[in-house]
Amino acid sequence: MVRQPEVIGIASGKGGVGKTSLSVNIARQMAENGKKVFLFDGDMGLANAQIALGVKAKENISHVILGEKNINEIVIQVSQGFSLIPGASGVQQMAALNNIEMAGIVSIFSEIKAEIDFFIIDLAAGISPTVLTLLDACHKRVIVVADEPSSIADAYGLIKVVCQRSKRDDIFMVENRFRGQSSEKDASNLFKLINQVCIKFLDRSIKNLGTVSEDEFFSMALKDNKALLDYAPTSIGLKDIDGIVQEIFALDPVQDMNGGLEFFIDRKQ
Ligand SMILES: Nc1ncnc2c1ncn2[C@@H]1O[C@H](COP(=O)(O)OP(=O)(O)OP(=O)(O)O)[C@@H](O)[C@H]1O
Ligand SMILES: [Mg+2]
Repeated sequence: MVRQPEVIGIASGKGGVGKTSLSVNIARQMAENGKKVFLFDGDMGLANAQIALGVKAKENISHVILGEKNINEIVIQVSQGFSLIPGASGVQQMAALNNIEMAGIVSIFSEIKAEIDFFIIDLAAGISPTVLTLLDACHKRVIVVADEPSSIADAYGLIKVVCQRSKRDDIFMVENRFRGQSSEKDASNLFKLINQVCIKFLDRSIKNLGTVSEDEFFSMALKDNKALLDYAPTSIGLKDIDGIVQEIFALDPVQDMNGGLEFFIDRKQ
């Protein structure tokens, strides 16, 4: 029986706050912990996880959507236990898929012939229909927020839209790029503030997955097309990533998801 994966979406309101950096490194670190992990580059217009990992993909999800390839033919094994489903970059029609095409993508996942523990989706920024449809298909939705006013306002905007779409209690926050001695406290205060606003105006609470420090090794590893584990294994950034990974491992897996899409339904049998 093919194991049912836990699907985790990494999203943000504002762009450039660290979704791809966190997705790639969380996936790599989970695999290092012995899990079978798939990373789907769900930034449908401007995919770049493959660059961050230094792998060259001849084909990507656009070829599957166009019926030229089977999903299993485009999967790339990055390292032991870690596979990538590459996204399309610079393909305009991929950036604006309609609802039927999006539903098609989600059902394509059910055809993957592999055992998977965690299926991570690195999303595009914002609240486009593509982002929201993919987020609907996730068991856990992780919103990345940086310590700047526009990132905070946009994170709340995204949480609001996600809350309006479903009553599920599975929204998590990661505070990225916090610096200085009081970074843990600042991040915790920011989480509390956003959570209070969510409780007051949306009647919903969110959960904190943890904080990732500002660490120049993230951009250095990116320039060298490597995950942090393979570039700076003793970095503070990787320690923080591992903290987030252990938090995720400690969470209860979501077994049932009303409105869950074909990917999960097919695999439950
Ligand atoms: N904790 C961190 N410390 C230092 N730099 C970071 C950190 N997280 C991310 N960065 C840097 O921020 C830049 C943007 O990161 P990344 O591409 O992961 O963001 P993104 O949210 O995926 O962007 P986009 O919205 O364009 O997809 C990169 O140069 C990355 O190296
Ligand atoms: Mg990105």
